[in-house]
Amino acid sequence: MSQYSYKITGGNSLRGDINISGSKNAVLGVLAAAMMIDGKCTLENVPDISDVQVMIELCNTLGATISSEKSEDGSLTLDIDPRTINTYKATGPAVSKIRASYYLLGALLARCGKASLRMPGGCNFGQRPIDLHLKAFADMGATGARPEDINGGIITLEANPLRGARIFLDIVSVGATINVMLAATKAEGMTIITNAAKEPHIVDVANFLNAMGAKIKGAGTDTIRITGVPVLPGNFSYSIIPDQIEAGTYMIAAAVTDGDVTIHNMIPTHMEPLSSKMREMGYTVEENEDNDSIRVYRKEGAVIRGTNIKTSPYPGFPTDLQPQAVVLQCLSKGVSKMHENVWQNRFQYIPELTRMGASINVYDRIALIEGIERFKGATVVATDLRAGAALVCAALAADGTSFITQARKIDRGYENIVQKLKSLGADIERTESPEYEPDAEA
Ligand code: UD1
Repeated sequence: MSQYSYKITGGNSLRGDINISGSKNAVLGVLAAAMMIDGKCTLENVPDISDVQVMIELCNTLGATISSEKSEDGSLTLDIDPRTINTYKATGPAVSKIRASYYLLGALLARCGKASLRMPGGCNFGQRPIDLHLKAFADMGATGARPEDINGGIITLEANPLRGARIFLDIVSVGATINVMLAATKAEGMTIITNAAKEPHIVDVANFLNAMGAKIKGAGTDTIRITGVPVLPGNFSYSIIPDQIEAGTYMIAAAVTDGDVTIHNMIPTHMEPLSSKMREMGYTVEENEDNDSIRVYRKEGAVIRGTNIKTSPYPGFPTDLQPQAVVLQCLSKGVSKMHENVWQNRFQYIPELTRMGASINVYDRIALIEGIERFKGATVVATDLRAGAALVCAALAADGTSFITQARKIDRGYENIVQKLKSLGADIERTESPEYEPDAEA
């Protein structure tokens, strides 16, 4: 696999306007859902990122027909016809590249009555079990869902048949909520999910399923009711919602470079957990009257103070903005606290930030961050997607030049990040580099 880095020379304040792309986590669920249609559909505002390319490859391998066209704004429009699917097996190596391949379990179970999947991959931040997904499928009548049924890393489920059930999620799980919605869409009778996740992309996947012909009520609340239907006619167009995490990352990049950026094509209410923290810290976050953009800047003389943040499921503070928010906390006055409440091990990037001058102590799931004046440029490694985005933010604000290696991890979730940042005045370029170049001074 080709390796490349981002070379960033910090110090330029980001200024101007930027458009947000379609949501990565929504489109991955939507693509799996599209595999269930008994007709065709067109997907618009699909982000051109590598996770989407992997999901398209997985769908193609199943036999689905997908054609892709690049729009002027850089997004993709996909024409999808899943009626050519000729297998229930998604067991090739590409499955392990992304976590969201688990959605093919629910979708194939619904479409084919059988589903075979290699254990999924994704960012490595602690254990990422799918026990809740499997327990729910078993409750709906699927066989093969017990942990001892996993054979050589392959799970094979069979619907005997799939029946609606009451599913209580004892941990709020985005993936399990979507996977159960997919399977329940074609199950016999009603499924009720309680303690469901409420993330914006859950609502987007439910809206897409309903456009296909599903009967889903309550998405976005903690109780979702799905009445199974036998046929999903499709034949419609659907536009993916804007990416909450990409929008949040640019809000933070604007703030830490002491810039002034207006972020368009986004949904300000999705940003409230971040906007309110940024306001508390001293930044100005203005929502425009049309309710589709946010401007972030610091008023002259405003002092930026530290704050405490705890990640939790939506509408709490998103764990996928945790690393970027730590960068914000680093450049504030006093001591801040970050409590990672969703993932077991999501502070792997802290040693990289420390190389750039951060002063952070980690105690299990809590990081104590002492404010610093400036970051300094360094060679650091993107340990995962959002950690990589955080290092980009730090490098943009740093004195000197940074190299962020393994930058392909960042491209899993950020469409055209180099061009977007350049358009705001950043000094960033992509350079070919070896896997890891240790910092000469470290
Ligand atoms: C999704 C997102 C990811 C985000 C996460 C939390 C996608 C493709 N990825 O991941 O970016 O960080 O939501 O917002 O949408 N858990 C179990 N058993 C399970 C499932 C989950 O114990 O069967 C636990 C996990 O270990 C974790 C917590 O539940 O501690 C939340 O995970 P979940 O919401 O399922 O995350 P993902 O859907 O994998």
